[in-house]
Amino acid sequence: MNLAGITLEPLASAEAVLSAEEKEAGVALIDIGGGTTDLAIFKNGIIRHTAVIPFGGNVITEDIKEGCSIIEKQAELLKVKFGSAWPGDNKDNEIVSIPGLRGRDPKEITLKNLSKIINARVIEIIEQVFLEIKNYGHEESKKKLIAGIVLTGGGAELKHIKQLVEYVTGMDTRIGYPNENLAGDSDESLSSPQYATAVGLLMNGLNKIEKAKKVKNGPTSFSGKTENRRNQR
Ligand SMILES: Nc1ncnc2c1ncn2[C@@H]1O[C@H](COP(=O)(O)OP(=O)(O)OP(=O)(O)O)[C@@H](O)[C@H]1O
Ligand SMILES: [Mg+2]
Repeated sequence: MNLAGITLEPLASAEAVLSAEEKEAGVALIDIGGGTTDLAIFKNGIIRHTAVIPFGGNVITEDIKEGCSIIEKQAELLKVKFGSAWPGDNKDNEIVSIPGLRGRDPKEITLKNLSKIINARVIEIIEQVFLEIKNYGHEESKKKLIAGIVLTGGGAELKHIKQLVEYVTGMDTRIGYPNENLAGDSDESLSSPQYATAVGLLMNGLNKIEKAKKVKNGPTSFSGKTENRRNQR
């Protein structure tokens, strides 16, 4: 069995969005995906704790679908376009009209109601993650997470998720965009948090190729010299 080439998803995301300083200072990376929410805690540069919560963005969409009696596609669209994790954000008179299924009247959904549905589920997910952070022991002085929380994955794109996470955990929070560690003008479309894992896996793969090259060719200066000698002959 070869385990050397396998990278855990949370580790791949961490590679793409965390800085070495954050891992040193102590940080909790929360990757909110579709099916799962993954937690990876780093302290003194080393991974200390991981956990997988079996809920993510899909279950939020499911709640909207049930709560508003609409189809899944409409629920997903509502969440992405108008959703907010913070219900206080919407006034009672903000309404979206969802076209009815063939021959049926359109449905009117208040944004306040939408964000209440989202808020309830996100709080539940974040509380489960926070329980794992407590299990790690972040209140002990040697285990403090000085860099707080970094949110990534598609779920991190939910409006006002940062505020809600700070409210529930009391910890400093930022959104981790995967292109921060890429050189040059990286593609705009790759900078969305939902590509954190993919970008991290790619970075891991490239690092491995680089390392393999070095082992094969030896130090570049050395191979350069032998080339020159051969040319002189
Ligand atoms: N703008 C947005 N607002 C709210 N949610 C969003 C937004 N964009 C994407 N999502 C949600 O993010 C989730 C997908 O995230 P991501 O692409 O990171 O998941 P995944 O890595 O494929 O899933 P998993 O990690 O569970 O295998 C979906 O539930 C999607 O609805
Ligand atoms: Mg993922």
